[in-house]
Amino acid sequence: MLHGIWVDDEGRARYRNRIVWTPYARLEREAGKALWAGIMTPYLPGPDTVPEPYAKTFKQSAFINIIHHGGRWLALSEVDPPWEVSAELESVGDSPFTWDGRIEGMCAHPRIDPATGEMVIFRYNLVEPYLVWATIAADGTVARGPEPIEVDACYMIHDFVITATYAVFFVAPVVFDLDALVTGSGPVLAWKPDLPMRIAVVPRTGPSTELRWFETDPFWAFHFANAFEDGDDIVVDFSKFAFFAVGPAPDQSGAVTRLRINRTTGAVTSTTFDDRLTEFPRIDDRLQGARHRHFTVSAKDSGLGMGLFNVLMRIDAETGRVEEWNSGDYVFDEVVFAPAEGSISEVGYFVTFRTDRKTLVSDWVVLDAQDIAAGPIATLELPFRVPLGLHGNWFGCSDLNPAEL
Ligand SMILES: [Fe+2]
Repeated sequence: MLHGIWVDDEGRARYRNRIVWTPYARLEREAGKALWAGIMTPYLPGPDTVPEPYAKTFKQSAFINIIHHGGRWLALSEVDPPWEVSAELESVGDSPFTWDGRIEGMCAHPRIDPATGEMVIFRYNLVEPYLVWATIAADGTVARGPEPIEVDACYMIHDFVITATYAVFFVAPVVFDLDALVTGSGPVLAWKPDLPMRIAVVPRTGPSTELRWFETDPFWAFHFANAFEDGDDIVVDFSKFAFFAVGPAPDQSGAVTRLRINRTTGAVTSTTFDDRLTEFPRIDDRLQGARHRHFTVSAKDSGLGMGLFNVLMRIDAETGRVEEWNSGDYVFDEVVFAPAEGSISEVGYFVTFRTDRKTLVSDWVVLDAQDIAAGPIATLELPFRVPLGLHGNWFGCSDLNPAEL
């Protein structure tokens, strides 16, 4: 389900939600129950349960993120093709959006370069080619790829980063086991701590033969804030995060981390801004691929369970200073930066949905990005509980076709 908040020039806000009506969602609605199971407990219904085209297939559901690019609103899943929706969140058409069959699927975390309008995407796959990437031009047409990146198995890769010159993919030792998936003989996803973290630095415009690999100690990160070039270094800010695989697990700290990948020496070095468990690192997206000063992460009071966050941390990457806002009983997941109209970089607001753990009442809050400790400057109580979910984005009027407003 997509949840949207619209704010007009008079400061009035409205809320709407809509299900992304994939055929899989329609079949489950008609059946009145779930027909597929989750990714960690896979079950593929047979032709006795679902129509032939969907029998023995994985459920596609665009539930992770939503973007606006090339004039289209696209709801995204982990590896499947996106689903187009309207500016009012209504599902468009009865098949996924594949760029005329050229893109079989894409990640939930494409990176849009604000300097060029280009969108860089990737996809990992259970069968070869295990990892591919592509670029979509600002006009929404496929500009490059999909091109393979040579890896020897299906590694789970949820997010990546771009700089002005490179796309950077972190191949962590988290491997999908297709046999285990089919036979149920073992964990579907396995953490292989004997393998390094391999980092592919791919030139966005140069020949793919210029791809270079770097290695460092294994770690896992679901999400990255941003990357930029600093001399010979590629600088990447992110949250290390606990992984959910069965068996030995990597660094569980969730520490707010800066990695430097030196393209001359091959050295990969790591420093830590804060060692608390954090997630959902974000920047002012107008700086994607360029040098940012600040980024935010969601953090939590001790004792708060998995997937629940109630502290927003704003990190000054130049001074190391950390500002915080504690939301108390109201928990949230991702917090999004919304630029102030006509503002310079990093001046604006932070917005998020959150829910009171005691009453299950949800609201939508706005913080001043320059002073998060002061707490919300606006709060909108919502008529329904908005479940804690995954990702969101703020779209300014410049993102909208005037005809859609
Ligand atoms: Fe994600």
